[in-house]
Amino acid sequence: MAKILRKLRLAPGINEFVVDAPLIARKAEPGQFLIVIIDEKGERIPLTIADLDRESGAVTIVFLEIGKSTMELGQLEAGDEIAHISGPLGKASEIPQGETIVFVGGGVGTAAVYPIARKAKESNKVISIVGAKNKETVIWEDKMKDVSDRLIVTTDDGSYGRKGLVTEPLKELLEQGGIDRVVAIGPPIMMKFAALTTRPYGVKTVVSLNPIIVDGTGMCGACRVRVGGVTKFACVDGPEFDAHEVDFDLLLKRLATYREEEELAKRLFLERGRK
Ligand code: NAD
Ligand code: FES
Repeated sequence: MAKILRKLRLAPGINEFVVDAPLIARKAEPGQFLIVIIDEKGERIPLTIADLDRESGAVTIVFLEIGKSTMELGQLEAGDEIAHISGPLGKASEIPQGETIVFVGGGVGTAAVYPIARKAKESNKVISIVGAKNKETVIWEDKMKDVSDRLIVTTDDGSYGRKGLVTEPLKELLEQGGIDRVVAIGPPIMMKFAALTTRPYGVKTVVSLNPIIVDGTGMCGACRVRVGGVTKFACVDGPEFDAHEVDFDLLLKRLATYREEEELAKRLFLERGRK
């Protein structure tokens, strides 16, 4: 059991939970993820570790209420217990030294980018681009500002920061030159277009993939992704991969495999409420 120590509503449908998980807090490194199981009937929900405090044993997760299980998770409050949290899972991010790195966070992906940018800031120049649909859904702007030499915020509708997609300032930075690496985490379509944007400039680009995850330990094969023409398991070989090698179209197709079932589960959940 893991107790929710604090709950913060960051934006409509986006929650931040600080959870008591000392074993994970002691070991986790930026880029790793965990699996949450709400109760004995619960689905396994993979979530990136967004922050942690090794001393107090607290781990922060940020999630979008997108389907039945994440909506159910969003109904929990501070003081409630989560049945199981396993982790840290996956490989830690590779943190270079002495580079200029552009971190791109799309929507809730900003919380996944944050711990990597924070670590990278210790030995690199960090430029961050944070994108969201609108002003209301921009998250962790202050935290990103703290770990960035420069921060650019974009919104799709122009209600805050620059109007447009994250790939627009990304292209401008690449045009100006001097960028050694790009780390982009957000919706798969954003990561695909971030990869297409950086490819002509030959700048190393890293993405954190979010395929369907079941066991998270390399046993079931649910998280298969194609990288460089080879099948990889995102949960143990990733979740981070070279963006220029990733078959994003296959990832998007596989993510849609259970869309009908997911929609049905969500509809039933909304009709019946939590069991
Ligand atoms: P969102 O739809 O609000 O998009 C965030 C930003 O991504 C946008 O503001 C835009 O700047 C950029 N973007 C979107 N489409 C783009 C395109 N075609 N080209 C260039 N840039 C584009 O994001 P959200 O609502 O937080 O997430 C949507 C989905 O993505 C959810 O299902 C979420 O679970 C998933 N997601 C996955 C990860 C991950 O693990 N890699 C991270 C974040 C979100
Ligand atoms: Fe089962 Fe990766 S989630 S092998």
